[in-house]
Amino acid sequence: MRVGIEAIAFHGPEHYVELADLAKARGVDPDKYTKGLGQIRMAVATPMEDTVTMAVNAARKVLSNFDIDPHDIGTLVVGTESGVDHSKPVAVYVHDALGLRANCHTYETKHACFGAMAAVFSANDWISCGRADGAKALIIASDIARYPIGDPGEPTQGAGAVAMVISDRPHLLQFDPEVRGHYTKQVMDFWRPLYSPTAFVDGHYSIGCYLNALEGALVDALDKATFPERYAMERLQACIYHVPFAKMAAKAHHRHFEIDAGEAIDTESERYVEVRKAFSEKTQRWLSLNAVVGNIYTGSLFLSLIDLLRGSTSDDLKQISMFSYGSGCAASMSIAYPTPGFERFRQAIDPEPELNARRKLSISEYENIIWLHDSLATGDTEELRADEWDLHGDFLYLGNHKHIRRYRGLECGICEARRSERLAASEHQH
Ligand SMILES: CC(C)(COP(=O)(O)OP(=O)(O)OC[C@H]1O[C@@H](n2cnc3c(N)ncnc32)[C@H](O)[C@@H]1OP(=O)(O)O)[C@@H](O)C(=O)NCCC(=O)NCCS
Repeated sequence: MRVGIEAIAFHGPEHYVELADLAKARGVDPDKYTKGLGQIRMAVATPMEDTVTMAVNAARKVLSNFDIDPHDIGTLVVGTESGVDHSKPVAVYVHDALGLRANCHTYETKHACFGAMAAVFSANDWISCGRADGAKALIIASDIARYPIGDPGEPTQGAGAVAMVISDRPHLLQFDPEVRGHYTKQVMDFWRPLYSPTAFVDGHYSIGCYLNALEGALVDALDKATFPERYAMERLQACIYHVPFAKMAAKAHHRHFEIDAGEAIDTESERYVEVRKAFSEKTQRWLSLNAVVGNIYTGSLFLSLIDLLRGSTSDDLKQISMFSYGSGCAASMSIAYPTPGFERFRQAIDPEPELNARRKLSISEYENIIWLHDSLATGDTEELRADEWDLHGDFLYLGNHKHIRRYRGLECGICEARRSERLAASEHQH
């Protein structure tokens, strides 16, 4: 059975900060952020945009852009490390906002940035083993990446959600049915205690943990594969990675190349030219969205995948590798096969027009938003107003009343339209 991604869509906040402006405000050379980290802008969520609103908006886009009936969704999972409640999952808000059926298997997954990839694997296995009975899985990666103001991690913030429909009609991409490599190790590279709105990170150590995990997951895949040659880099037209910041993908590809070559390749050595060439051909081209959105934790790998699918054709893309990393840590290396003809969905998946329409924040506006996020997290609030935040989206967070989160825009046009269609069809049958 062919199983993979039938549909994919991104949704992010309506505002951003220019990293050159942030560098200036922090007294840092802008080249450090734009060249050293490879980041140009970072998306900033206003207080009315949260993990729920981004997940719902991405999910509505994926269903409507690909004309998928919400009634066909039998599993709904939200992977996130910045959920809105210690107990109640983001997924159940999404279930309500989309009007999904009551017997949908709905839950949230967490393992830092690995949570959504874990859900994708589970959905893949659920369908492959025959239990889905024709139903599809809706997997959403939704996160707001936050570090303290002035922290080295500050320029690697971002926010956004990627929604994917996994099914036995993989119009975009099919997962390798046989082999994937895994790696797990308890490390304290990045974590966020229950009492903290911002993450703690041992940044340089986390880069080392990421690279060790890449090696562990790739070696596991090679050990398990009946034909390890299928993982050979020469067979891969694209290698995409988890992207906390664009430069990390360059480091990841360097390590990937070394393992493939079976030797360490120093940046001063002659062979490093080959590493740079492979990086520019197989990875760098698919980092342009990550560079202007920033780190979206669980969705970062899939944002790079969107970039790949919107910018390639079936003729030049037959087989790719996907590396997912979640601090703490867990990682996987897998192979996927883009479906011939996927390019006909280019317009449906390309978020660039929306990203270009975002509005720029000054650094003081951005800092005010951060301050407000923290003050709102303490209890009940006044009702938030979209015009005060210059927001145009349909589904927005309104604040808390009696410790209950309230949202505007619960009515979903596509769900209502589909419900009426089903009703009319069943009346016609009888
Ligand atoms: C990534 C992180 C550790 C960088 O922090 P930092 O100590 O302030 O930055 P560095 O001094 O290492 O500089 C970053 C890069 O910019 C380069 N750089 C510094 N100044 C520069 C300048 N003026 N012009 C060009 N490049 C510059 C550095 O050489 C370095 O590149 P390299 O890694 O290839 O050597 C920090 O942003 C962080 O903690 N991020 C969050 C954690 C994370 O994303 N981890 C990834 C694994 S999940």
